[in-house]
Amino acid sequence: MFTLETAATAAYVVAALLFILALAGLSKHETSRAGNTFGMAGMVVALVATIALALARHIEPLGLGLLIAAMAIGAAIGLWRARVVEMTGMPELIALLHSFVGLAAVLVGWNGYLHVEHDLAGAEAAVLSNEGMLGIHSAEVFIGVFIGAVTFTGSIVANLKLSARIKSAPLMLPGKNFLNVGALVLFVVFTVWFVIEPQLWLLIVVTVLALLLGWHLVASIGGGDMPVVVSMLNSYSGWAAAASGFLLSNDLLIVTGALVGSSGAYLSYIMCKAMNRSFISVIAGGFGIEAGPAEDKDYGEHREITAEGAAELLSSASSVIITPGYGMAVAQAQYGVAELTRKLRERGVTVRFGIHPVAGRLPGHMNVLLAEAKVPYDIVLEMDEINDDFDNTSVVLVIGANDTVNPAASEDPGSPIAGMPVLTVWNAEHVIVFKRSMASGYAGVQNPLFFRENTQMLFGDARDRVDDINAAL
Ligand code: TAP
Repeated sequence: MFTLETAATAAYVVAALLFILALAGLSKHETSRAGNTFGMAGMVVALVATIALALARHIEPLGLGLLIAAMAIGAAIGLWRARVVEMTGMPELIALLHSFVGLAAVLVGWNGYLHVEHDLAGAEAAVLSNEGMLGIHSAEVFIGVFIGAVTFTGSIVANLKLSARIKSAPLMLPGKNFLNVGALVLFVVFTVWFVIEPQLWLLIVVTVLALLLGWHLVASIGGGDMPVVVSMLNSYSGWAAAASGFLLSNDLLIVTGALVGSSGAYLSYIMCKAMNRSFISVIAGGFGIEAGPAEDKDYGEHREITAEGAAELLSSASSVIITPGYGMAVAQAQYGVAELTRKLRERGVTVRFGIHPVAGRLPGHMNVLLAEAKVPYDIVLEMDEINDDFDNTSVVLVIGANDTVNPAASEDPGSPIAGMPVLTVWNAEHVIVFKRSMASGYAGVQNPLFFRENTQMLFGDARDRVDDINAAL
């Protein structure tokens, strides 16, 4: 028989399939737009089906009003934020959105407790204990609240770090690994206890414990590993949603949560491999990484060059590689860079771009900016494609990049970014670094490249300096 209930269940299956197609589409550049469209369509189907289901279950008018009002307000804020967000602000916005998923999971968990375990004489508890499911419900509440709370505070710290409102350097509390492992052990013990005897104080304790753990896990991870952290929090938010799905008996939420959770975990794993990081170490909040000695190394003096000097060097060069970074995005220097590229190519200079996988603040950031400025796609190469060519290059222009060209990553085993693959720009004949000061990059470590014999600093806003070079040329 056709009922709203069965229609909604069928719609859930359609939505789940659309989400799987979305993930498949997002895995390749060419199909990513289609992937986004599938995802949006899936979400529309899911929202309509959820409202239909609420109507079928005779939701009270007040509940329906609140549901629609919450959706309208949420949609308005979401549209506004998505329209105004700068590309450079994208990761921090994503981190903030993950925190909402975490908070929602905590609230759903608490709501589940108040309706069932806290009201053991009530109707819902009676049904569950008749079916022998009360213990499972308690475990769902506890696990959902725990994952949700870790995701909530972890994502807030990620947001604060990415937006530079707190320092990106890792927090190094004494015995930090012990604190993390201790919190996990306590969680397991309390879960068993709560399943046997569901008491309010246990839920309060686990909520506080998980909030502190989430904060500490992400605070302990250094800036250079932040891309992995964002994708890891994405994964946590998926598991938090799946836990809520179990509590709400919502199959779509379970499937979607599991999709987000597993794809996020896999993405974190791929990113760790690309950056030569230990997956376990990163997900465990920098487990095993101990504080190195404070940096007080004397690297010597750096040399400076003027825009005119740089223009002269470039005119006599036969090949040039440009390695852009976050500073190019901040300065919006890509248009000037595209013009410089055109001018040099007209003079017969070979110009290419070397793009580090985590240059900027989100994957593909530099590629998008260069495409926007109409730099020909075939001269924009990935790090692996260009790294062997620096030896035969006359001039490298490092435009607002820092960590991604830091030789310490490959030469100093004690460096916080040791082992991370970097663009080997120092092998070129001349290196010109565009930045505003001698300040360190996102990972918060000094860059010995700036003090090398063949490096010259070109200080100032990258856009102004590129324009100056264009004028001089
Ligand atoms: P960074 O290491 O952050 O260095 C950027 C440099 O640009 C800074 O040293 C800064 O120096 C300079 N700069 C900023 N504004 C400028 C302006 N207006 N004009 C000229 N220079 C300017 O960037 P990167 O080399 O692209 O490395 C990316 C870092 O971000 C890595 O540590 C990476 O792990 C992290 N991260 C990446 C992602 C992803 S997925 N791509 C996400 C989050 C974090 P001054 O202040 O002296 O000018």
